[in-house]
Amino acid sequence: MKMSVYAVETRKLVKHYNKGKVKAVNGLDLRIKKGEIYALIGANGSGKTTTIDMLSGVLMPTTGEMNVWGLPQPKNRKKIAHYFGIAPQEYALYLDLSIWENITFFGKLYSLSREEIENTGKKLLEILNLEEKKDVIAEQLSGGMKRRLSIACALIHQPPLLLFDEATVGVDPVLRAYFWSYFRKLRDAGKTILITSHVMDEAEKADRIGLMRAGVLIEEGTPSELKQKYSVDTIEEVFIHLSGDEIIDE
Ligand SMILES: Nc1ncnc2c1ncn2[C@@H]1O[C@H](COP(=O)(O)OP(=O)(O)O)[C@@H](O)[C@H]1O
Ligand SMILES: [Mg+2]
Repeated sequence: MKMSVYAVETRKLVKHYNKGKVKAVNGLDLRIKKGEIYALIGANGSGKTTTIDMLSGVLMPTTGEMNVWGLPQPKNRKKIAHYFGIAPQEYALYLDLSIWENITFFGKLYSLSREEIENTGKKLLEILNLEEKKDVIAEQLSGGMKRRLSIACALIHQPPLLLFDEATVGVDPVLRAYFWSYFRKLRDAGKTILITSHVMDEAEKADRIGLMRAGVLIEEGTPSELKQKYSVDTIEEVFIHLSGDEIIDE
């Protein structure tokens, strides 16, 4: 089998809700290269979560095609599940389980051995500074800690592709900076990261950015390419430029 250079590839991907009344994703062509941090940026309601949920195999597309790690999705859902880790926008944590129990749960879900869970789990707790809280019930954690745990659970089976849906939303600036330096380390270690955000300045730290509106990409490029193209200093200004006079409903 020929190895694809793309970690994610969608062609004319469409997802309509309510019998077509809501066109959440509307012909999306997305290509994410292996080894890059790609930020999918767009206002609330632009279709980011719907896209992530189709890529992960949770949602069936209305029409269109997609490959995840070179395999057609959703046809290869089970196989593809081993190639990515996901930190959903709405946490997928078990709130009545402790940090360590959550990590163990996700490890078992991927059929990891007890030893693998111990080794990788301990490292992740250390990196994400959750060691001291490992026996605390998830429900009692702050938003930032839940985000950290969510990221740890996404990484437990050491997948090559990470889908982080608004992974840095609601965390303080110090943790956000830490997350980004950690994401870069993961990238340098060969991982591919697709991160979504409705916060434009997040995009500055990504390798490439896709600006999404009404279910399609309206612009794409590296942060410097985009700023140069529109002769502006921030990605926020690029977005404002592209939105014209339109007021976006939050
Ligand atoms: N289950 C659903 N049923 C109906 N409409 C939905 C559903 N999920 C999302 N939507 C709508 O689809 C659009 C895109 O939503 P979403 O993918 O969550 O965007 P984003 O993650 O960019 O905020 C929005 O208009 C949203 O209200
Ligand atoms: Mg969303």
